[in-house]
Amino acid sequence: MINPPVLGTERLELLPLLVEHADEMAAALSDPALHTFVGGSPGTPRELRARYQRMVAGSPDPGVSWCNWAVRLREESRLVGTVQATVVPSSGRLEAEIAWVVGTPWQGRGIATEAALALVAWLEQHPVHTLVAHIHPDHRASASIASACGLVPTGRWHDGEVRWQRDTVAPPPP
Ligand SMILES: CC(C)(COP(=O)(O)OP(=O)(O)OC[C@H]1O[C@@H](n2cnc3c(N)ncnc32)[C@H](O)[C@@H]1OP(=O)(O)O)[C@@H](O)C(=O)NCCC(=O)NCCS
Repeated sequence: MINPPVLGTERLELLPLLVEHADEMAAALSDPALHTFVGGSPGTPRELRARYQRMVAGSPDPGVSWCNWAVRLREESRLVGTVQATVVPSSGRLEAEIAWVVGTPWQGRGIATEAALALVAWLEQHPVHTLVAHIHPDHRASASIASACGLVPTGRWHDGEVRWQRDTVAPPPP
């Protein structure tokens, strides 16, 4: 199992997700528009506490790592979003499905891209061999973030979303 560490960038701290982040995150992510492409609706503080409890407990499958971070904007000392990676073994290699959310007031400032690049750099160290993101075909912002991380769209679809993928050149483990 891979445990997420604290990751830092110029403007951001990526903090391993805690149940204690739920109340602040519920406020930061309260805009229903955040769910336009991914479905669902904003969680209440109570719902997020329960969800984060499950996330922090980790996958019941010991081979699978649920890595979740709260993204903190240094200059405002506030939590503004999340990034996540679900790392699974696949044909003797590691594959990570990645995703991101940034609260509406903080969007359009490159925060999701900066956080996603830090996440990907960390995943490369493990090494994760395949990065995957599922993105709605009309979701231009997420497509830009995936591109910045080196992923490209494949012809594969899942639940109305396109599978984006990046295969690294790292050799498989012996
Ligand atoms: C997707 C999301 C994380 C982007 O957050 P953000 O911090 O605004 O993203 P960035 O500022 O890093 O911008 C990323 C790219 O999207 C573009 N972008 C941002 N908002 C956009 C918009 N409304 N329409 C089109 N492009 C947009 C930016 O120009 C940038 O592209 P560029 O690097 O080519 O200029 C945010 O909109 C969000 O949380 N959406 C809801 C959750 C979601 O759908 N997550 C995706 C799950 S995979």
